[in-house]
Amino acid sequence: MTALQNLQPPRISTADSCSSPITCLLSRCGNMSDKKTPTYTLAEGCPIASSSTAQTFRSKNTPASSAKSLVLLQDTQLIETLAHFSRERIPERVVHALAVGAWGEFEVTKDISSLTNAKFLNGVGKKSKVLLRVSAVAPQAGGAETQRDVRGWAMKIFTEEGNQDFVFNSIPVFFIRDPIKFPSVNRSHKKNPATNASDNTMFWDYHNNNQEGTHAIMILFSNRGIPASIRTLNSYSGHTYKLVNDDGNFTYVKFHFKTNQGVKNLRQADADKLAGENPDYHTDDLFGSIEKGDFPSWTLYIQTMKPDEAEKYRWDIFDMTKVWPHKDFPLQEVGKLTLNRNAQNYFAEIEQAAFSPSTMVPGIAPTADPMLQARMFAYPDAARYRLGVNYQQLPCNSPVSPVYSPYQRDGASRHDTNYGRDPNYVNASLKTVNFKGDRGANGVSDGGHEEWVAGKVQGYATEVKDDDFEQPRMFWEMLGRTEPDEQRDLVSNICTHLGKAIPRVQKEAIQTFKKVDAGFADQVQKGLKL
Ligand code: HEM
Repeated sequence: MTALQNLQPPRISTADSCSSPITCLLSRCGNMSDKKTPTYTLAEGCPIASSSTAQTFRSKNTPASSAKSLVLLQDTQLIETLAHFSRERIPERVVHALAVGAWGEFEVTKDISSLTNAKFLNGVGKKSKVLLRVSAVAPQAGGAETQRDVRGWAMKIFTEEGNQDFVFNSIPVFFIRDPIKFPSVNRSHKKNPATNASDNTMFWDYHNNNQEGTHAIMILFSNRGIPASIRTLNSYSGHTYKLVNDDGNFTYVKFHFKTNQGVKNLRQADADKLAGENPDYHTDDLFGSIEKGDFPSWTLYIQTMKPDEAEKYRWDIFDMTKVWPHKDFPLQEVGKLTLNRNAQNYFAEIEQAAFSPSTMVPGIAPTADPMLQARMFAYPDAARYRLGVNYQQLPCNSPVSPVYSPYQRDGASRHDTNYGRDPNYVNASLKTVNFKGDRGANGVSDGGHEEWVAGKVQGYATEVKDDDFEQPRMFWEMLGRTEPDEQRDLVSNICTHLGKAIPRVQKEAIQTFKKVDAGFADQVQKGLKL
């Protein structure tokens, strides 16, 4: 068996009979859970004799088998069916459009109640329902899933005090640390505005001139840049968040989900072959595994840092181009995520899901990381545009805990009772409302790092300094210690991609790599025959 054959995921069966272990997905299969035969109706309930006729006006002499006739405007069935089809698409996510998702549960395995009062993290053995959506960033929906790209990890934990979203990535650092660059870095990874094709010159030109992303670029072009399966990738918060305890004290934290299946990646040649043979490779693999009861799981770890340690630490903890090396801040186990249920319908449960770093429960809080602050605005803003202002009411997004938010009313597609007769203004004497806790949204906590004195409004953009190349250098050296040597793969992957950029841009990229390591730059230069 070749390496590639080993990677073949089970195909999802759509056959009449379920010969494979994977349940047949068509309603004609007896394995469907709902066996009651439904009666076909129009959308407002009117029963109709056939799903495939059109009402026509035809001459008495025209044989029934002839198409010669006039279609009528009164045919609500035909008009409704066609009009709905034209409106089936909603705006695609501007990034992270190509995705796979599933349901599962999160279980607490270690007690961290001294660090956080988040209810879902308190009590070893406690379980919460989870929705996970894992996406590639640059490709459009429907693209090949084995493309080299960062994978996004969007996870909603349904807790007794509202939803907790973890909107992470499969690499621990990011390409930028200035939020205003986000549209630019993504455009450079997508399509050229003139040709509408991917453009490697544009890609490398962006990175040559925004070198704070060198660490992320090197991880992307290492073997970690193409996961073999969604089941075999890790995810990382990237940002520093806060854990807040009952006393209002906080600890800085980074989150890591580590796959219990072991990290596995694809080599470029295998990934390219699979992209042609089965563009839905990752979907088939995850869906098929869950369907046959082989449930993937991840262990959640945290790294924690006290505020006074943060002040002395050599790396800026709000700079998400940097990791906290594990030898400085070791991983501590917290819990286990298991995916155990496929969606019944991708659009309803995965496409309509909306995740945001601003969706937080008491006990977890944001920090002053400018990227995180910007993201907390961007995601709900995107969801209001993509799904409408009442997107939190969609079943896939709706909390399992009670919601009473009567000052947010009306709006398109409101499909609950809209708080009925309850007052729609604050401090109404006509109906009392209970309040809980003594803090505002997102757990504003006590302590020196929340005090801002003698400041003034100032423009700020980060500058690239020598120490921005230190962690990339550590990464390069680490690859050199692997067996077989992964430095060679990194160089080869870069050359394959960078080789399609114009020579000037290739030369400029080599200048960046020189700042990481002269030998690394030499190898790329040789690989490009420059
Ligand atoms: C300033 C920086 C960033 C901005 C402005 C931004 C903005 C966005 C937007 C607008 C979307 C589409 C949301 C939608 O249509 O529902 C998105 C998706 C996503 N982003 Fe970001 N992003 C940023 C950085 C990051 C970082 C650093 C990470 C990971 C650490 C990340 C992870 C994700 C994920 C996982 C998704 C997919 C969410 C889903 O499945 O619905 N993003 N981002």
